Amino acid sequence: MPNLSIVGLQWGDEGKGKIVDYIADGFQAVARFSGGSNTGHTVVVGEERHTFRLLPSGVLKGKELLIGAGVALDPMVLAEELSVFPDARAKLLIDGRCTLVSPLDKQLDSAVEGMRGDFAIGTTLRGIGPSYAARALRLSPRVIDLFEGFDYAAMARFYEKLSVDAGSLLGWGEESEALLDGVVGNVGGRVKQINEMGGSVLFEGSQGTLLDLTHGSYPYVTSTNTTAAHVPAAMGIPASATGPSLGVAKCYTTRAGGGPFPTEIKDSLADSIRTAGNEFNETEERPSRVGWLDLVALRYAIDLNGTREIALSKLDVMSQVRDFKVCVAYKWQGSETTDFQSSIGHLGSVEPVYESPFPLRGANFEGGLPKEGRKLVDYLEKNLGVRVRLVSYGEDRSTTAEL
Ligand code: IMO
Ligand code: MG
Repeated sequence: MPNLSIVGLQWGDEGKGKIVDYIADGFQAVARFSGGSNTGHTVVVGEERHTFRLLPSGVLKGKELLIGAGVALDPMVLAEELSVFPDARAKLLIDGRCTLVSPLDKQLDSAVEGMRGDFAIGTTLRGIGPSYAARALRLSPRVIDLFEGFDYAAMARFYEKLSVDAGSLLGWGEESEALLDGVVGNVGGRVKQINEMGGSVLFEGSQGTLLDLTHGSYPYVTSTNTTAAHVPAAMGIPASATGPSLGVAKCYTTRAGGGPFPTEIKDSLADSIRTAGNEFNETEERPSRVGWLDLVALRYAIDLNGTREIALSKLDVMSQVRDFKVCVAYKWQGSETTDFQSSIGHLGSVEPVYESPFPLRGANFEGGLPKEGRKLVDYLEKNLGVRVRLVSYGEDRSTTAEL
């Protein structure tokens, strides 16, 4: 079996964690390749609810856990997660090349957001942008540098110039070194070994394609690339070893932060969907913005990832909505387009053109996928040119079906 990448096809929170947990069985290892603790991947098993920020969502399946070089690692967040899952430590390998998130990055994240005023991105305030920026400036330590007596002087001077109090770095390096002792190595090399021994690795995407730093709705994006094409570079494996991708899309759309959102619902219906879908971003615990399924954006994401198969999540939520709609094109300056353009002005001013293919209201998912759900699957397969491999219709692990 080849390696497989699970990637988000919208603006994050598509339900990637649940799909990773479901599909992990056949894989030897689950690997995070990008993002950091801005991620909140939730797996629900009966009464238990776990949200993973840095540990791959293969924890509950007892898988080998890899954190690839492309991840921005906050050692304190990892320590919190390991205190909940102490057994995970023996299964964990973190690449020494990972960039670190320090307390200074979190202070700077808040300061930069404040400076943006009305144009704030609405980041998770987890220090992700500043951490990757400091890496590009070659100022911050990587994980491996913690063990080699990193000199923090230049880094501290840089942050102090930006009025960030570098005092909070005191003791942070030593504490991080102690926390990570024994779990650091070459993750790309480990993927190669697993593959050579006949095992496969599941790469767990973070955020979503439309939050990709290069191809998303910049500047309202995260600070890394999020698509399947980023997997090999971030993991330190050749592109030929990456394997196919499985995209995850919700049957409606949400956005946790700011930025253009063509299909956003602005009336009270948004509150009902938010409540029905529990759309309170797991990382910041703030209400997410809610909108209809946007096939223009989804096609763009499918093309970027080269995804032939998707997992469709949260069908049960749309069964609670009176008038289920899908955006099939954008209207702009009097004509229709199916282009998801790079211009933020364009994306912010297009008018969605909707179809109401059929009502989902009242569809009953107790016995699996009902006929209304099947119709939606057929409609999407036809419109998007992909196979719907999995459907998910509830929070619990048991509410996933393979088609
Ligand atoms: P998962 O993996 C939803 C959003 C933030 C903000 C923008 C930039 O759970 O799908 P950042 O802190 O990354 O600088 O914030 O990106 N964002 C997410 N939204 N789910 C996520 O991850 C997100 N990670 C970042 O809300 O709009
Ligand atoms: Mg999230």
